[in-house]
Amino acid sequence: MSDSDRRSPNIKDRGRAKYFHGRKGILADFKERLEFARDDPEEGSTFLIQAAPGAGKTALLHECARLAAIEGFAVAEVDPHKFLDPEVLHESIDTSWMRWHRWLTHGSASVDVGVFKAEVELGGAAKTPLGVIEKGKGGLVLLLDEAQLMNDLAVGTGIPFIGAKALLTAIHNGRTGHPVMLVAAGLSATKRAFKDMGVSRFKDNCYVELGPLKQEAEREVIKDWLKKDGRAKGDPTPWMDAIMRKTHGCPQHVAAYAQAAAIHLRATGREMTPEKLKTAIEVGEMKRTKFYESRADGIVRKERQCIARAMANIETDGTIDKDIVIASLREVCSEEKAEDVFTLALSNGVFDLQGDSYVIPIPSMRRWFMASYFIERDPPTHPHRA
Ligand SMILES: Nc1ncnc2c1ncn2[C@@H]1O[C@H](COP(=O)(O)OP(=O)(O)O)[C@@H](O)[C@H]1O
Ligand SMILES: [Mg+2]
Repeated sequence: MSDSDRRSPNIKDRGRAKYFHGRKGILADFKERLEFARDDPEEGSTFLIQAAPGAGKTALLHECARLAAIEGFAVAEVDPHKFLDPEVLHESIDTSWMRWHRWLTHGSASVDVGVFKAEVELGGAAKTPLGVIEKGKGGLVLLLDEAQLMNDLAVGTGIPFIGAKALLTAIHNGRTGHPVMLVAAGLSATKRAFKDMGVSRFKDNCYVELGPLKQEAEREVIKDWLKKDGRAKGDPTPWMDAIMRKTHGCPQHVAAYAQAAAIHLRATGREMTPEKLKTAIEVGEMKRTKFYESRADGIVRKERQCIARAMANIETDGTIDKDIVIASLREVCSEEKAEDVFTLALSNGVFDLQGDSYVIPIPSMRRWFMASYFIERDPPTHPHRA
């Protein structure tokens, strides 16, 4: 990317979900993987969670971390750029491990401190990123969020790049000498980014495309927000039904509406009246819009209008042609800038790569773009009187 202010605004949504429900099958598969890896280090692997923004990747990653800790693995978070330099990687694992240890043992009542028995000792200086991991002892789970940013890594052919690639493939193929799992989450360009790093063909159940929450889980999340957080009085069913009509299982939407409802209840007394519900839904709507706005951060108004215009040309199968977006952007900026804006929109999840096609992963994001930047263009100027 050319100018630094165009870099991704680094959208970091909060870590663990306040009221986590669902994803049981995925977590059971992950737990099984951990057990395989513990029994046979050659079963170590990459576990990739791929989904649109707001689908619940970060929350799920945290649940994986909790499970890993309970199973006796040490847990450390790394970011995509920390793989390049052995010293940076070492330092990053070392400090992150302590942070996670603290969080897992004190921050969460549901982790039994007694079972946390991770024994990773990082070895001394290593010459390569893989060396850092090979020198360690015990089971290690590396968490990698926003893994689509690894796309930036794959441009290189230099020694750091080769080192990072060697590490990722060794973990993926269970060749580190001890139980190591890389748990990664990212937008759907992630699988491709891994492929560029030599990581493909995932072991059974190690590649997950995250869909909406199941209805029962969604209900539980909303109920917890209303009852536990909002301390609602009485039967929350009508509110739960009203919120669910807005959220369709998308965790980000669930969180936006349910949290808004809980805050409103706390502020106005705990009775659930129809008037309050109306306000709560309006506030939820606003929070959802903010989420979309944050995805368009760093893209200026005239560029957003161009994107909206291109979005009007979406194919019936939901795909959108990159060339059309670029051509539309070219009306207001250079070729290079247009590419940058597209890349930024992609890394913020406005667009998403599915197979070889670009799609708009959240339909209501498209509606938001269209409504705020297409329909409401600058009003036509009135002709001057002659
Ligand atoms: N399974 C879940 N149960 C309850 N809340 C969830 C769940 N998954 C995600 N959330 C909440 O939904 C919101 C969006 O989830 P997040 O993990 O940040 O999505 P992503 O990382 O995919 O963008 C967050 O507020 C998160 O706490
Ligand atoms: Mg996230």
